[in-house]
Amino acid sequence: MSKVTVVGAGNVGATCANVLAFNEVADEIVMLDVKEGVSEGKAIDIMQTAQLLGFDSTVAGCTSDYAKTANSDIIIITSGIPRKPGMTREELIGVNAGIVKNVAESALKYSPNAILIVISNPMDTMTYLAYKILGLPKNRVIGMGGALDSSRFKYYLSQALGVNANEVEGIVIGGHGDTTMIPLARLATYKGIPVSHLLSDEKISEVVKNTMVGGATLTGLLGTSAWYAPGAAGAYVAEAIIHNQRKVVPCSVALEGEYGESDICIGVPVVLGKNGVEEIVKIDLASETKELFAKSAASVRSTNAILKELKVL
Ligand SMILES: NC(=O)c1ccc[n+]([C@@H]2O[C@H](COP(=O)([O-])OP(=O)(O)OC[C@H]3O[C@@H](n4cnc5c(N)ncnc54)[C@H](O)[C@@H]3O)[C@@H](O)[C@H]2O)c1
Repeated sequence: MSKVTVVGAGNVGATCANVLAFNEVADEIVMLDVKEGVSEGKAIDIMQTAQLLGFDSTVAGCTSDYAKTANSDIIIITSGIPRKPGMTREELIGVNAGIVKNVAESALKYSPNAILIVISNPMDTMTYLAYKILGLPKNRVIGMGGALDSSRFKYYLSQALGVNANEVEGIVIGGHGDTTMIPLARLATYKGIPVSHLLSDEKISEVVKNTMVGGATLTGLLGTSAWYAPGAAGAYVAEAIIHNQRKVVPCSVALEGEYGESDICIGVPVVLGKNGVEEIVKIDLASETKELFAKSAASVRSTNAILKELKVL
């Protein structure tokens, strides 16, 4: 029996639980929220689609009752405030750091062997916080950001190429911020053909720019941050782990010298399998990309430093 807990039953959390159930990623899915009745109601709503959509997973909701999350294989943290138009993800740290710390510690008490997937923003810093306070091995603390950013990159590439996004390959590394993420255009392909053979430099620059502000664009349109792709990306990471898929997915993980960085969680390609992060994939980056990665790490580190000012670390 496999079990996944999703903490936070808001836009992202409920979407994630819905995708987990629809794709039968786990036998049992539990949503937990502090808002009385919300996760219970959303769980019943999702369960009332089971017959229509034909899935066998069960979804249950609870209000702040961590006992119900006991023995989860995976805990996905989506609790916290989302950004509003004009805000950066980094501005959320004051509120979200306290929430993520509290939630991660409470959930781990009941599921000491769980693998943690962090979605709350600023995601790299929240992943770092969870990694530092929980004392878990680095393979068990994973930030979902690169999975989403890479999916957005493939979307914009597919739009530029006029093809299906499933036929495009591309990854985004670095921090999960509007100015810190690094879409690796040089390595992106369509059916094995480098996209640089198919698109002009101008078009590729536009795709890269759109990817980097992909979240902000949607926040501007929606008045709050997006949830369909973020929720699905969380479920995608969980599925790769539970089903031991050994997929290469860019995720925010603790580095110990890889890519020239240490004491930081930041997006790099990793192999996801039953132990969480099975391996960090090393790509030989071009020298200008190495510089961008170092800059991105410096920016993530300056956000991490706020954790000490807030006294949560
Ligand atoms: N990493 C990513 O790629 C990515 C993408 C989108 C959103 N996000 C982030 O995910 C988070 C959630 O976004 P959303 O749109 O779902 O927000 P939302 O407001 O719709 O939902 C957040 C939920 O968290 C709950 N919550 C707050 N404190 C809690 C606690 N202590 N315990 C349990 N639940 C608690 C709230 O009651 C609410 O239901 C935000 O921080 C957002 O910035 C990250």
